[in-house]
Amino acid sequence: MNNRCIILAIESSCDDTSVAISHNDNILANVISSQHIHEVFGGVVPELASRAHLQQITQVCHKAVEKANISLSDIHAIAYTRGPGLLGSLLVGASFAKALSVALNIPLIEVNHLEAHILAHFIAGQYDQKPAFPMLCLTVSGGHTQLIKVKNEYEFKLLGQTIDDAAGEAFDKAAKIIGLPYPGGALIEKLAINGDANKFELAIPRIPEFDFSFSGLKTSFLYLVNKQKQHNESFIAENQADLAASMQQAIIKHLMSKTKTALEETGPYRSIALAGGVSANKALRKSMDDLAKQLGLKSYAPRMEYCTDNAGMIAIAAWYKFQKQEFCDLSAPTLARMPVKSI
Ligand code: KG4
Ligand code: ZN
Repeated sequence: MNNRCIILAIESSCDDTSVAISHNDNILANVISSQHIHEVFGGVVPELASRAHLQQITQVCHKAVEKANISLSDIHAIAYTRGPGLLGSLLVGASFAKALSVALNIPLIEVNHLEAHILAHFIAGQYDQKPAFPMLCLTVSGGHTQLIKVKNEYEFKLLGQTIDDAAGEAFDKAAKIIGLPYPGGALIEKLAINGDANKFELAIPRIPEFDFSFSGLKTSFLYLVNKQKQHNESFIAENQADLAASMQQAIIKHLMSKTKTALEETGPYRSIALAGGVSANKALRKSMDDLAKQLGLKSYAPRMEYCTDNAGMIAIAAWYKFQKQEFCDLSAPTLARMPVKSI
């Protein structure tokens, strides 16, 4: 095994253009350029996303190299997100990565975005002690909601996932309903701090096993708001914080009840973890901590910059592949759907 491995990693699966430089499991630079053009549309417009990646990627790459204080000749491998994600967006990162690997004559490493969200926990410098295996990971992002049994850094088992909307989507759609811009997850959290979470009752979804469902919750939130607006035009303005807090609580309750059942029925586990953009949510982090304490476990959530889409997580996932010399060739196609490797 090479004891000094510098990787340049690219993430472009959705609406963040990011390039990171890692030295083994240390991240030397993690430059993220978020696209704001989608805000007015209330969601990501794929065509605009790929165009913006193309405009940003060279600049973001130069910034990362400069910040890490390395030169291109120091790099041992190029990593990129192969999927899942928006095809046009993925193609920009993949093409850029392939061109760099050819130009520098160094290996290419393809990374699964969902595995990378999980492996973000193993980026150095975040915890006194890294999470112990087996670990139960709840991945919650704008595109995915999954419960995954993580046996080690290479072996994952999907236990359940959303059958419709993702948890992040539920936050974003609720935000849109109460007049907040996209993406609204962090704004809902901010409003919820001063809101009464018990003011509005929303039905917690009931579906079997370890799967999730958020579309019914979104619909009941929409009906509630529309109904109240018929009687009072300023209903949203007068109740925005309580609406945000009630919706946030319902989403978290659903996530936690499934996580608890999975812990009880598919364990034993030695740690529990949160991954993906929604894990930036402090109320969710606290609920995970409380659940972990009840069960005598430790819970983990990555540092904020490693929660939402970023290339640092692609670099750490690539570092594990590099240690096994798992490289890919130039013909590897990008994949809109790409499940985690299952044991
Ligand atoms: O992982 P991510 O950056 O991108 C995807 O792979 O989807 O996750 C983005 C999602 C968005 O839905 C955003 O609203 C949500 O994460 N999010 C949050 C918070 N910060 C980001 N949701 C709730 N609370 C937050 N603080
Ligand atoms: Zn993501």
